[in-house]
Amino acid sequence: MRTEILAVDRENPGEGPIRRAAGIIRGGGLVVFPTETVYGLGADALSPEAVRKIFQAKGRPADNPLIVHVEDKEAAALVGQLDERSRRLMDLFWPGPLTLVIRAAGGIPKEVTGGLDTVAVRMPAHPVAISLIKSSGVPIAAPSANRSGRPSPTTAGAVLEDLKGRVELILDAGPTAVGVESTVLDVTGDHPVLLRPGGVSLEDLDEAAGPVLLPTGSEGEGRSPGTRYRHYAPSLPVILVEAGKARTERPHLPGQGARVAYVGMSPPPAGVMAVACFTSVEEYAKGLFSALRELERSGAEVILAELPMREGVGLAVRDRLARAASGAEGPLDHWP
Ligand code: TXA
Ligand code: MG
Repeated sequence: MRTEILAVDRENPGEGPIRRAAGIIRGGGLVVFPTETVYGLGADALSPEAVRKIFQAKGRPADNPLIVHVEDKEAAALVGQLDERSRRLMDLFWPGPLTLVIRAAGGIPKEVTGGLDTVAVRMPAHPVAISLIKSSGVPIAAPSANRSGRPSPTTAGAVLEDLKGRVELILDAGPTAVGVESTVLDVTGDHPVLLRPGGVSLEDLDEAAGPVLLPTGSEGEGRSPGTRYRHYAPSLPVILVEAGKARTERPHLPGQGARVAYVGMSPPPAGVMAVACFTSVEEYAKGLFSALRELERSGAEVILAELPMREGVGLAVRDRLARAASGAEGPLDHWP
């Protein structure tokens, strides 16, 4: 399959490219499209055959459910059951990087939900994504547009690295704004449970609908199937240091004279061969995944990564770094 890339303007996508992409979705094919978080690999969420193609293209385990992308709250009400709390969260945070796990409506294929009775739904804050959903006339199921286990793509170039020849069309609207994926919040129980930290902060959710619980151990594993799998992994080992400790605490590196690349917000320690340094935690989130892809091409043998503080989007950056650093598959043994 030849992969075509169409450049689109974020604010003014133009009818041609959107119509083309919507035609592919309606025909049961795959389209990569931009959201405010990362690029998504989309298919008609109501078609089991189309959704199966997503899993094939990504090499994704079939029991890891997908997020359904909708154009507004009314469309979300057709995908699953909304209650007062979920409606309020939608009013406050949509469009935006908040995914809500709610009871699934009948008619949502089990390919989308991984066989669960819940469904994840979100309205992205990106004019290209919204135009595509509207023009397709169906909700769009989409995971991040990377090969399973790779860092999520924040540019069309990163999508191409992973999915060239596996998808018909990529809509390229430039680098994404948030850089880490949406926050996934389970609102099916008495208290909301944070299944994945992301673009909307825990502090803001706590204020709006708290207390928000953090999943622990096996509970988290059961509730958010995606957290079972190794994620966001560059091909090099990643070693973590706490904020501000990269120069003082000699991290344990594999062997003397190892070629080290560094990513973080503090100035890099002496002697590293490649650096990605960010001036704010928002910039860190935005640049993290492309930095990991870049540093693995630098010739380094290991990536030293500085964990930001747990505040705001820092919690999501910590989570992605901890997953990149945990070499083995499986859940993290503690919240990072
Ligand atoms: O920002 C994002 O969320 C991006 C863009 C493309 O929207 N999408 C994304 O999708 O990151 P994906 O498939 O890479 O991650 C979806 C996460 C997984 O951890 C999955 O297990 C979880 O959401 N999830 C989906 N449906 C669920 C459900 N019914 N119950 C619990 N977790 C669910
Ligand atoms: Mg993903």
